[in-house]
Amino acid sequence: MKADVLLGLQWGDEGKGKVVDVLTPEYDIIARFQGGPNAGHTLEFSNIKQVLHTIPSGIFRKNKINVIGNGVVIDPIIFKKEIESLREKGFDLSGNLYISKKAHLILPTHLLLDKASEESKGKTKIGSTLKGIGPAYRDKTGREGLRVGDILTGFVEKYRCRTENHKNLLSSYYHREYREALEIHEKEWFEGIDVLKSFRLIDSEVFINQMLDEGKTVLAEGAQGTLLDIDFGSYPFVTSSNTICAGACTGLGLPPGKIGKVLGVFKAYCTRVGSGPFPTELKDETGDLIRDAGREFGSTTGRPRRCGWLDLVALKFSIMLNGVTELIMMKADVLDRFETLKVCVAYETGGVVSETFPFEIEDDLKPVYVDLPGWHTSLTDIRNSGDFPGNLKKYIRFIEEETGIPVTIASVGPNRNQTIIL
Ligand code: GDP
Ligand code: IMO
Ligand code: MG
Repeated sequence: MKADVLLGLQWGDEGKGKVVDVLTPEYDIIARFQGGPNAGHTLEFSNIKQVLHTIPSGIFRKNKINVIGNGVVIDPIIFKKEIESLREKGFDLSGNLYISKKAHLILPTHLLLDKASEESKGKTKIGSTLKGIGPAYRDKTGREGLRVGDILTGFVEKYRCRTENHKNLLSSYYHREYREALEIHEKEWFEGIDVLKSFRLIDSEVFINQMLDEGKTVLAEGAQGTLLDIDFGSYPFVTSSNTICAGACTGLGLPPGKIGKVLGVFKAYCTRVGSGPFPTELKDETGDLIRDAGREFGSTTGRPRRCGWLDLVALKFSIMLNGVTELIMMKADVLDRFETLKVCVAYETGGVVSETFPFEIEDDLKPVYVDLPGWHTSLTDIRNSGDFPGNLKKYIRFIEEETGIPVTIASVGPNRNQTIIL
C-alpha cells in the first residue's frame, strides 16, 4: 500500500483538521509528520469542538491508530493538557496513540528563547506563535536536541546538560532574567514527560512501513501550510519545518515511492496569521467581512487572521511543490454574501505581469484579478453537490481549469456533516 498525504496549500488554517477527521474512516492509521503545537486543528461534530495541537486529527474515530511522527516537535506541557482535555470529554487515547522515539522535545528554555528572539527583532519579528518551534528545530538541526526516546534513561542529566547553553544565551546574549519563569515551567514540563512516558513510544518509521506492507492504509496529516515551508515559503516569515509533501517522507520515514494521493487543502479565499507578504490581502472592510463571516481568529493564539481573495499564482506554486492529485476547497460558505468574487490570476510588478511566484514579493506588487459572480445564497444547509448554486459550480470549475487538478471535496461549514464529496 501507499500512504496518502493531506496538507495545507496556503498559509495554514485551511481546515486540515476537519478534513482529516472526515476522511479517517477510510484509513487505519493517521500520522502527523511535522510541526508542533504551533498548529491548531479544529474539529467539530455533535456537541464537541476540539482544537488539537500535537495529536493527529483521527483521534475521534474508533479502532484507528494515531501516530506522532519523528518530524514533529512535542511540548510535554501542551501534550498533557490535550490528553487531559480529551479525557474530560470521555476519550481515552492510551491504546491508540503511538509516539515516535525520534520526535524532538520542546524544552521550557526553547519557549523563553523564542520570546526573547521575537522581542529582539522588533518590527521585523516573524509573528511566531511563541511555542518554541524555531529554537527546538534549530537544536534538532544543530544536533543538540533532546528526543522522546531520551526520556527512557538518564533523562534529568541529559536535560540539565542541554539547557546549560540555553541559559547562557538567555542571560548573556538576550540579557533576560529567566530563573523564576523557568522554575514554574519546569515542574509542569516534567509532569508532562511522565504523561508522555505512559504512551507507546515506538520506531514509527518501522511501524508505518510494516503496516503499509501488511496492506493497511495510512493518511499523513500536515500542519501549517506550503507557503510557510522553511525552504519554499516567504522566508524568513515561515515556520521551521518542511510543510510540503516531502516533509511526510522525512517526518515519517516514508520512501517517496510509497506516497499515494496528495490531498491539497485550500480555503475559497486566503488568510495569514503573523508577519510576511500576502499579495491579495484586503486591509479594508471586505477583509473585515471575510474575517467576521469566517471567524478568522487563530486557533492557537487567538490573533485576528489577515484575510484576502483567493490567490491562484500562490496555489499553483503549492500544487507544483506537492504534486497535488486532488484539491479540497474549504469555507465556501464564508463567501455567501458577496455579489462578486475576485480571484488573483497573476502578479504585476513595475508594469510587468507574471504568473510565477517570485523569490521576493515586493511592496509594489499588485494582484491581477478576474471577477467571478458570487452565488449570493446560503450554502450551510446543502448536503449534496447537486444542490450547489450554479455560480459556486462555476467558481470550482474555474479553479479546476486554471490548476488542472480536480476539486473532490467542498466544505460549507465547520461541522463534520458540512463536507460535500464532489
Ligand atoms: P487547520 O489548522 O488547517 O486544521 O484549520 P483551523 O482549525 O486552524 O482553522 C479552520 C477554521 O475554520 C476552524 O475554526 C474550523 O472549525 C473552521 N472551518 C473548517 N471548515 C469550514 C467551513 O467549510 N466553513 C466554515 N465556516 N468554517 C470552517
Ligand atoms: P496550522 O497547522 C497558521 C505561522 C505563525 C508565524 C509563522 C512562524 O494550524 O495550520 P512558528 O510558531 O512556527 O515559529 O511561527 O508561522 N504559523 C501558523 N499559521 N496556522 C498554523 O498552523 C501555523 N503555525 C505557524 O503565525 O507567522
Ligand atoms: Mg490551524
